Amino acid sequence: MARISGSKSSSLFFISFLLASLVLVSSERVARPPIVRGLDWDYYWLSCPRVERIVRKHLEDVFEKDSGVAPGILRLFFHDCFSQGCDASILLNGNGTEENERNHPANFGLRDEALQAIENIRAIIRVQCPRVVSCADILVIAAREAVRQFGGPDFDVPLGRKDNTIFDIDSPDNLPVPFERTDVQLSDFFEPKNFDATDLVALSGAHTFGRAHCTTLFNRTIDTNPPIDPDFKNQLEAACPKDKQLINTVNLDIRTPIQFDNMYYINLLNHQGVFTSDQDLASNPKTKEIVNRFASNQNEFFNKFANAFVKVSQLDVLTGNQGEIRKSCFAPNNKKKSNVASVVEEVVGIATNM
Ligand code: HEM
Repeated sequence: MARISGSKSSSLFFISFLLASLVLVSSERVARPPIVRGLDWDYYWLSCPRVERIVRKHLEDVFEKDSGVAPGILRLFFHDCFSQGCDASILLNGNGTEENERNHPANFGLRDEALQAIENIRAIIRVQCPRVVSCADILVIAAREAVRQFGGPDFDVPLGRKDNTIFDIDSPDNLPVPFERTDVQLSDFFEPKNFDATDLVALSGAHTFGRAHCTTLFNRTIDTNPPIDPDFKNQLEAACPKDKQLINTVNLDIRTPIQFDNMYYINLLNHQGVFTSDQDLASNPKTKEIVNRFASNQNEFFNKFANAFVKVSQLDVLTGNQGEIRKSCFAPNNKKKSNVASVVEEVVGIATNM
């Protein structure tokens, strides 16, 4: 009897321990928001179960050598998704021609090292799981890793995207502009895609690390509305002499430039936001309270950021039989076909099916 109750109590202890650890583990991870049809939280569990570990491991080495690749990848993710959807079209190099999404002015400053890191991961994954993992999914996992490995939230990302075969050189017109104020960012860029003021403030928190070229912030030192801290203004002017506007860069977060944390919002409260679009969040009546909350509560920022990130990651995705799994992230599988040829083919296809 004593032995039975002993084993019972130890199993009870074990079960309670297990439950407690599960609660502990799940409380560290951000809860999963709703996802669109065609994506799945465990999309590769049979076909490529190690995919997320491979991305994580590879990026640990890459980030150790060059921490700037992390913000580079996060920006690449945002620019891919907000242009014509999370379809890896931003990686297409246009068969070596000048024509591609990347050459659009809104994509100025994208880091080649970030693009190359995605292609290198694709090559590694292709050895272990041939023809199953898309470049679009690799980019989403890598962007989450960029956040996680620099101190930001850990959260799951839904997977199952396919890669696009074409790109639209004008699609980066959908990207927000650093010189604009909050009302314009919301009405022209975020609300049309169903992102509200909280999403905008949370997503802008991505500027907690990384850099900006001087050309993208020149108006901040001229215009004092929204307000700018005078010492910060002097720092920006010193870092950005007139003849070096295209080359020189400044840190987006003056306090903790290589950490993913909530210092960005504390900078805004001190009028030390780099772009007009950043600083105005602390003045606009729709967003200033949210800035205050995120400045005093990092957990709330992390939760809202993770939610908004997952929302971004589902914009206009190709799933199921749409798109393809690219053999190289930089080119569609049928390389010989130009964009024009693909459009002609599509039109002929539609006409013959009529
Ligand atoms: C109002 C919205 C936004 C505007 C106007 C904006 C604009 C910019 C600009 C102009 C740069 C500087 C690029 C350069 O000069 O090299 C930049 C950098 C960056 N942006 Fe944004 N951005 C916005 C939202 C976002 C969002 C939503 C994310 C990601 C979730 C993001 C992530 C980044 C990162 C990580 C960098 C640093 C890149 C690097 O160091 O290479 N941005 N952004």
